[in-house]
Amino acid sequence: MTNPQPHTELESHLKETRRFAPPADFAAQAHVRTQAEYDALHRRALDDPEGFWEEVAAGLHWFRKWDRVLEWNPPNARWFAGARTNLSYNCLDRHVAAGLGDKTAILFEGEPGDVRRVTFRELLDEVCRFANALRGLGVKKGDRVTIYMPMTPELAVAVLACARIGAPHSVIFGGFSVQAIADRVEDAQSNVVITADGGYRRGHVVPLKANVDEACERCERIRTVVVFQRCKCDVAMKPGRDHWWHELTAGAPATCEPEHCEAEDMLFLLYTSGTTGKPKGIMHTTGGYMVHTNYTARMIFDLKPDDVYWCSADVGWVTGHSYVIYGILSNGVTTLMYEGAPNHPGWDRFWDIIERHKVTKFYTAPTAIRAFMREGRQHADRHDLSSLKLLGTVGEPINPEAWLWYHEVIGRGRCPIVDTWWQTETGGIMITPIPGVIHTKPGSATRPFFGIDAAILNKNGVEQPPNAGGFLCIRKPWPGMLRGVYGDPERFRRQYWSEIDGVYFAGDSARRDEDGYFWIMGRVDDMIKVAGHGLGTMEVESALVSHSAVAEAAVVGVPHEIKGNAIVAFVTLRSGIEPTPALRQELMNHVTHTMGAFARPEQIRFTQSLPKTRSGKIMRRLLKEVATSGEVKGDTTTLEDFGVLVKLAQKDEE
Ligand code: WTA
Repeated sequence: MTNPQPHTELESHLKETRRFAPPADFAAQAHVRTQAEYDALHRRALDDPEGFWEEVAAGLHWFRKWDRVLEWNPPNARWFAGARTNLSYNCLDRHVAAGLGDKTAILFEGEPGDVRRVTFRELLDEVCRFANALRGLGVKKGDRVTIYMPMTPELAVAVLACARIGAPHSVIFGGFSVQAIADRVEDAQSNVVITADGGYRRGHVVPLKANVDEACERCERIRTVVVFQRCKCDVAMKPGRDHWWHELTAGAPATCEPEHCEAEDMLFLLYTSGTTGKPKGIMHTTGGYMVHTNYTARMIFDLKPDDVYWCSADVGWVTGHSYVIYGILSNGVTTLMYEGAPNHPGWDRFWDIIERHKVTKFYTAPTAIRAFMREGRQHADRHDLSSLKLLGTVGEPINPEAWLWYHEVIGRGRCPIVDTWWQTETGGIMITPIPGVIHTKPGSATRPFFGIDAAILNKNGVEQPPNAGGFLCIRKPWPGMLRGVYGDPERFRRQYWSEIDGVYFAGDSARRDEDGYFWIMGRVDDMIKVAGHGLGTMEVESALVSHSAVAEAAVVGVPHEIKGNAIVAFVTLRSGIEPTPALRQELMNHVTHTMGAFARPEQIRFTQSLPKTRSGKIMRRLLKEVATSGEVKGDTTTLEDFGVLVKLAQKDEE
């Protein structure tokens, strides 16, 4: 049993009353324009989810139709069983056949500033060549292929080529190092690695190939390494094992018959470590995932043929899989890929990209937004962002203050924001505004997507009344859901399905307000119980961030003799603001004033930055160790910056 129990029923103390109606001009052109249309779709999906998803699926290409839409033997689901399809076909061939061959599929900008436009036809040709090359190397349907590459079009080519031949890909984020590669290759029993000589990050070359070489030493099963030449830096090539991408593809034919994959054939494995424990290989299959990502992308980002859509996530994360590649290309829309860091060469790099490429839809993470906020709005203010029509966020709860900054400084008050809640495990977006219809409240992901049966339950499975916190659960299967943890069906059952029988438990705590809007309160493992009050981390952090001096905050509970737990807050200040004892007092008072005295932090510690996972989530578990014992023993392989931790552990910022 690894799922921690919440200490008590969660309480909510933060009231956010600001509301934003969809801008009228946006609503007028949206896929879903009116409340009546929304209600009809919502009701249809609720009354007959299988019929609903079947209709959605009919918009995609299948070599063979399904026998049944859903077979559900909890916790095992089979969607579109018996059907045959191919995701690379749906992302490429389908659009070329429809006359979109010359349209830009991938708009690429490298960190050094190099720009490339790859059309759907060119992408199809490249994918076919590389798929043929992989087959030539002996890669067969079902073989797991590891991909460890920079954010270049070739990363998309590699992913789509795997999909084309039915070889599940396992993408490892390029920021991970040797042991993370070796562990994942071993767990996936993968014999083939696709990498590059290097990739650009903050003006430096990340030595991807050298990392793979070291991983090969720790992991004998790697027989084949394919190397894309990105940086033209010196790398060692081991004869027999290592092959240059350009040599393999030079002579390969530009046509390749797509594998007719079963809907339930594995499409990819993606490792998630969360914030604790051994990485798990989350398994996704072909048909349901395709339907879910295709439809959610279209409806939530309100995709239109002339969009230039940009999701700033790395393809090493699920957001990159679903909403850089599959969900966007399957809609025939141009997807922008940017290789490098958000602050290279300056803090306006993102806004500069949006201005130059006339980006229309932009999807990023709260951690990035808070970093931009900290540096000040002047970086965005000097760019023309008038091409933007919609903004999105994902990955963490967004504090209302950061939401408002995003809305005003980036969206210039014109763009609806879709705050999308989902997980690696859910495959696609689950809770989100529908941008032309739903009135948004800063900090809330609003309502479940069509056909998604999300609920707030207590540990006995009883649905909670409005505004009472509890477990965020999904009661009915959905097409994009994970199909298991690779090689560990027991862990799959225990981790996600054992809390409440037959119900998916997401590991997040949340509440649903009187309008049916969902508010994520934090990870259940991070809950704090103070003097009998169960608190999610989100609300105290948002209270702190709502102070004009604060850029970012993380709170944890430490044992306290009287209260049970006391709150320790780690706070990063906005650029140019000095940490002083007076400010510390002021922030404590601010929390008391906003939430109540029980939520007042016992301690506030100022810090330059917070320890985060590679995907930008704050690692409260480590902060808790620091606050409790002053040292850190836990697994730190997913830490972004070890220096931060050392500093915190030395208490030198107090
Ligand atoms: C958190 C990312 C609040 C949540 C797609 C979830 C969010 C975890 C939101 C999954 C959001 C993601 N509001 N919290 N809009 N989106 N989360 O697997 O805790 O990297 O369980 O997937 O991120 O993270 P993962």
